[in-house]
Amino acid sequence: MPDGTLAGRPAPAGVAAAGAGRDAHPLVVRNLVKRYGAGRPEVLKGISLSFEPRGVVAIIGPSGTGKSTFIRCINRLVEPTSGEIRFMGRDIVSLGRQELRLVRRRIGMVFQEYNLVERLSVMENVLCGRLGYVPAWRAWLRRYPQADVEQAFDLLDMVGLGDFVHQRADSLSGGQRQRVGIARAVMQDPDLLLADEPTSSLDPKTSVEIMELLARVAEQRHVPVLVNIHDVTLARRFAGRIVGMSEGRVVYDGPPDGLEDEHLRAIYGGEDWLS
Ligand SMILES: Nc1ncnc2c1ncn2[C@@H]1O[C@H](COP(=O)(O)OP(=O)(O)OP(=O)(O)O)[C@@H](O)[C@H]1O
Ligand SMILES: [Mg+2]
Repeated sequence: MPDGTLAGRPAPAGVAAAGAGRDAHPLVVRNLVKRYGAGRPEVLKGISLSFEPRGVVAIIGPSGTGKSTFIRCINRLVEPTSGEIRFMGRDIVSLGRQELRLVRRRIGMVFQEYNLVERLSVMENVLCGRLGYVPAWRAWLRRYPQADVEQAFDLLDMVGLGDFVHQRADSLSGGQRQRVGIARAVMQDPDLLLADEPTSSLDPKTSVEIMELLARVAEQRHVPVLVNIHDVTLARRFAGRIVGMSEGRVVYDGPPDGLEDEHLRAIYGGEDWLS
């Protein structure tokens, strides 16, 4: 994979270069509770976490513990039941539709199943990252500003897909699709990147490459990257911080080298599987 840098437009005023002017914690979650319907059990039981302006945070925990629910509450793909999610100083939970749309375009999301538009080319999929910014008629006519097209070329080089620009998404491998998904998310010029099991469908080598890419985004774009991940080894290798969840609560929050067997038992339960 080429070792390019992350091309990008200058950050807008207020979210200036090198993080100057940003909150110490651009994302602060307080007492987040989620229940899927009245009378249903709480899936998230009061999560409180603060995230620094950059770095990869891995969220680990058993299936069904609420990792996806948590990450989706942050951009309100899932509606929180109660609590506060302050992002760049604003409470996402209380935003109206219009404001939410504006805030959402600064939150990139990378999905396990990529969520590409299959019949569109790689380039068009990446340009979809600008949909929140360009007027609807431009998107409809597929006439994106030249600066966007140039940035998309740079990003595709960066993710190693410079030779695949015109190829249709449905002809790509899983690893290539995920690279497109990351380039599309970065095209949003995000202040925060969320990734829900971005490597679960990929082979081990490709998984490492995708995590390297996400780590590079965090470092070069000065954005926090939150990654839900089942692979504890990958989490340890690429995250500067690990959040361990169990039954809707945070039971570990600390550096990878502080994650001991006792924590893994608290997160996943049992111990037979630990050898
Ligand atoms: N739309 C929904 N409606 C009702 N219950 C849901 C919904 N989405 C998730 N749940 C429930 O919430 C709980 C947490 O699910 P979630 O997908 O957040 O877990 P997860 O930690 O991401 O699991 P996995 O590791 O398998 O992806 C589960 O019990 C799940 O069945
Ligand atoms: Mg999940």
